[in-house]
Amino acid sequence: MSETPEYRNLIGGELCPASSGRLLDSVNPATGEVWARVPASDRDDVDAAVSAATSAFPAWSALPASARSHYLKQVAQVFIAHGEELARLETLDNGRLLEENRGRAGMGMAFFWNRAAEMTLEAVRGHSVVLDPTTFGLTRREPYGVVAGIIPWNAPVAMCSSKAGLAMAAGNTVVVKPAEQACVSVLRLGELLADVLPPGVLNIVSGLGPEAGEPLVRHHGVKKISMTGSSATGKLIHRAAADTLTPAIFELGGKSPNIVFADADLEAAAAGVTTESIFTGNAGQVCVAGSRILVQRSVLSEMLERMEAIASGIVLGDPLDPRTTMGPIVSEGQYDSVTNYLEVGKKEAELVFGGRHGADVVPEFPGGYWVEPTLFIANDNSLRICQEEIFGPVAVVIPFDTDDEALTIANDTSYGLAAGVWTRDLSRIHRFIRDLESGNVWVNVYRQTRYELPFGGVKDSGFGHDDVLEFTREKAVVIAT
Ligand code: NAI
Ligand code: MG
Repeated sequence: MSETPEYRNLIGGELCPASSGRLLDSVNPATGEVWARVPASDRDDVDAAVSAATSAFPAWSALPASARSHYLKQVAQVFIAHGEELARLETLDNGRLLEENRGRAGMGMAFFWNRAAEMTLEAVRGHSVVLDPTTFGLTRREPYGVVAGIIPWNAPVAMCSSKAGLAMAAGNTVVVKPAEQACVSVLRLGELLADVLPPGVLNIVSGLGPEAGEPLVRHHGVKKISMTGSSATGKLIHRAAADTLTPAIFELGGKSPNIVFADADLEAAAAGVTTESIFTGNAGQVCVAGSRILVQRSVLSEMLERMEAIASGIVLGDPLDPRTTMGPIVSEGQYDSVTNYLEVGKKEAELVFGGRHGADVVPEFPGGYWVEPTLFIANDNSLRICQEEIFGPVAVVIPFDTDDEALTIANDTSYGLAAGVWTRDLSRIHRFIRDLESGNVWVNVYRQTRYELPFGGVKDSGFGHDDVLEFTREKAVVIAT
């Protein structure tokens, strides 16, 4: 490619390069080639974006809910008109299958924005209380002001939408800082929205975490933060936000257990603990990845056989090709990290299948960041591969005998984002729903993030939800007549 496209920030309705003029390379993880350049923003750009969002806030928050709703429906229309383009850009940038990105970056997001449009009303609904015959109490829901969204690379448009869409629905204005590894789809969305939204309501500033993310979360003009990413960075941001006492929502990592009991439908369970939950779902680069598969010992060999048969049918390759069922790892840095865990696993545990990586796996794309679906088996949940988030297509089977043992192993992790339970026993189901330390519990199904339900974690997986009401605060009012 002779011309590498350059993308720009969206600040105050204008598309602009970083004030320093610096750019970052964006790499296509299927080829290893630089295919786009994005602004390397810094404090100056962040200041400009927060200032634009601050200026836009009074008028945006003063709009009736129905008027804000109208704008958000126009964003949905942009996804209907440009969804395919956005999905393709995101696939070129982060390697997620085009098929999956149609839902999470493309046309499928129109559904989300229409829903956000419906939520504007919920965000202005307070309640009234008769305190005594001549005194009324009421609550007023108010937006915070400027919301900062810190976005990861695994689902840039979807994460940008869940933060910006709901924050805007509630009357906030927003500054989004997407991840340096994959932000083209979000910057392109910014171009498409420049004339759709009033200037400054949504601002997008790309750049590195320490250079652009940190000045944003430390900015005095930012009144609420929502961040999705690693627990380590979440803790850094929480510390930074303490100085300004800025409230925050954190959706962080996981080491989620997927527990298979002998009485389960083993065919469904074998598919449910492999495919989308850890392998084909963005090559395991999802926060809810079921990376620890707990299997009751009496069905261990049968389960291993079934899982291997399913994994052997997974087709790695070009994420734009509809025949492909699993794409690459997002970046060289993540590839190094995942392949290092393959070595750690081979030393401390036993390899069941997979374990290869690089050009051996997809010879047609020798520069891509390929890792095979990989399964280890271990008897000790304290191993590194059982405790650390790998964020790749790498799972570990941990056998167990009793319910108590399964529960102990499942909860023996610093994380608490998701958990799966596969069984037909109703009492057991209720006990596990109650006792699993996890923000999400999925029974006889996995990876069910639904717009109708809250999504978030406990322990090191964070707190809070990207929910429209979490982007509002309540004021208590008393009126004496
Ligand atoms: P990260 O958590 O460092 O990056 C997420 C976002 O935070 C990016 O936009 C980044 O630029 C920003 N950021 C980084 N440092 C910052 C700071 N000091 N202040 C403000 N913003 C900052 O994640 P990274 O390094 O890309 O991936 C490392 C690991 O994190 C992965 O291997 C995976 O385990 C986990 N992760 C989890 C995700 C999830 O969906 N929960 C998404 C991405 C990564
Ligand atoms: Mg990229």
